[in-house]
Amino acid sequence: MEYLLGIDIGTSGTKTVLFDLEANAVASKTHEYPLYQEQNGWAEQEPEDWWEAVKVGIRSVLEQSGINAETIKGIGLSGQMHGLVMLDHQGNPLRKSIIWCDQRTGKEVEDMNRILTPEKILAITANPALTGFTAAKILWVKKNEPEIYKQCAHILLPKDYIRYKLTGEFATEVSDASGMQLMDVPKRTWSSEVLDAFGIDQSLLGKMYESTDVTGAVHKEAAEITGLAQGIIVVGGAGDNPAAAIGTGIVTEGSAFTTIGTSGVVYAISNQVAIDKKGRVHTLCASVPGKWTVMSCTQGAGLSLQWLRNHVCSEEVAEAKKKGVDPYEIMTDLASRVPIGANKLLYLPYLMGERSPHPDPDCRGTFFGLSAIHERAELIRAVLEGVAYSQLECVDVFREMGVAVTDMMICGGGARSDLWRQMFADLYQCPVSTIKAEQGGALGAAILAGVGAGVYKDLEETCNRLILKKAVQEPIAENSLEYQKYYNLYKELYVTLFASFKKLAAL
Ligand code: XUL
Repeated sequence: MEYLLGIDIGTSGTKTVLFDLEANAVASKTHEYPLYQEQNGWAEQEPEDWWEAVKVGIRSVLEQSGINAETIKGIGLSGQMHGLVMLDHQGNPLRKSIIWCDQRTGKEVEDMNRILTPEKILAITANPALTGFTAAKILWVKKNEPEIYKQCAHILLPKDYIRYKLTGEFATEVSDASGMQLMDVPKRTWSSEVLDAFGIDQSLLGKMYESTDVTGAVHKEAAEITGLAQGIIVVGGAGDNPAAAIGTGIVTEGSAFTTIGTSGVVYAISNQVAIDKKGRVHTLCASVPGKWTVMSCTQGAGLSLQWLRNHVCSEEVAEAKKKGVDPYEIMTDLASRVPIGANKLLYLPYLMGERSPHPDPDCRGTFFGLSAIHERAELIRAVLEGVAYSQLECVDVFREMGVAVTDMMICGGGARSDLWRQMFADLYQCPVSTIKAEQGGALGAAILAGVGAGVYKDLEETCNRLILKKAVQEPIAENSLEYQKYYNLYKELYVTLFASFKKLAAL
């Protein structure tokens, strides 16, 4: 038997999954780590925590499966996008990583627009200057921590740091690097115009590959530490969303998926570069060579429910512990007993500011309409609905851009909830399907590795053959009508609160 390894470096933890060549998960291990939030709107993680989680994960899947490590034909990496990892000349992290949902860079975004103009930034990088993307974070360190910037010899994305630890190579690939805002996205290369304008030396950046390209092989030291065989190839892999696209079979134009993890993402494939002139959704290179993607990102999707679980739902957590089930099951069961509209309670999911469709570091989460009759059940339902409204606002932008959304796959932790999936079907007004293999990003990364290793011939054919649909939920017309009333009000709230959010940020 031969195997492929997919490693997904997420925000709450790293998931390492060993697959056979039919995409069956043979062994899997998730290892969690903390998120550091020193200030309101900041978010950092320790690169060494990711590496520790990868080591634990690899050792665990090898032990669980008992396979000979030589039978692993390739490794694919997938990971949280946009995070800034800075290494010194010895390859050691110079500071914690400033990750995707960090919003400290409002001033740097203003600087970027002044230096290069918003029009040029949009034309070259295919996105407006964004606080969440990596370039603004690099400029923040350059300005605020010049002594660290001076020592910086390498700038990497989170999963590319793991590549360096496994292979010794400083490399990246187009799908994740598009989210750095340093690329010419239509040309799929680093942009010397952008780099020169922002004063970032290209030698700091990794070598650019496509997602299926071989970027290196596991070296002796990494093999000794992890139990892997020296020489196993590591392919480019992809950012977690473009990797999940492969893992859910979204490889051809017209197909789309929603993922509800810490963030909420809607992602569609296009054969050409399609840019939203208003910058409400992102345009990136796809992990499918020669294709692009339109993608949205809600900063606080699963994060909103996790926040509610951690700070409000201790009773449900205790009950779940007693019953040996997931607290989210108890929470969503409670929410299912409340009618659509949560008895007139709305929630805006802006716990970490927002990116799509409102790029705004200053907005914050809001419960609107709180009444003495509301209990935890309504709070939970309002959070589920608010996150779903946010995805619909993005799908509306896709549709406005002419990107058809007629059939939606759904993955990530949020896809496990029947109630949430039905909500998405009702709001999108199209069927919503899950897939048999739940591993999304890790599976996508493993399939990319299979193509790079030559065990699969063709990426699209392999996805069509291996990725099988499971449950399909159809929209319910009367629910759609009822949700529409609350959705209309939801959309008004950001506009109404815009100036107040700015005042709050300035206090
Ligand atoms: C996408 C984004 C998030 C992270 C989190 O633009 O920032 O989805 O990749 O995993």
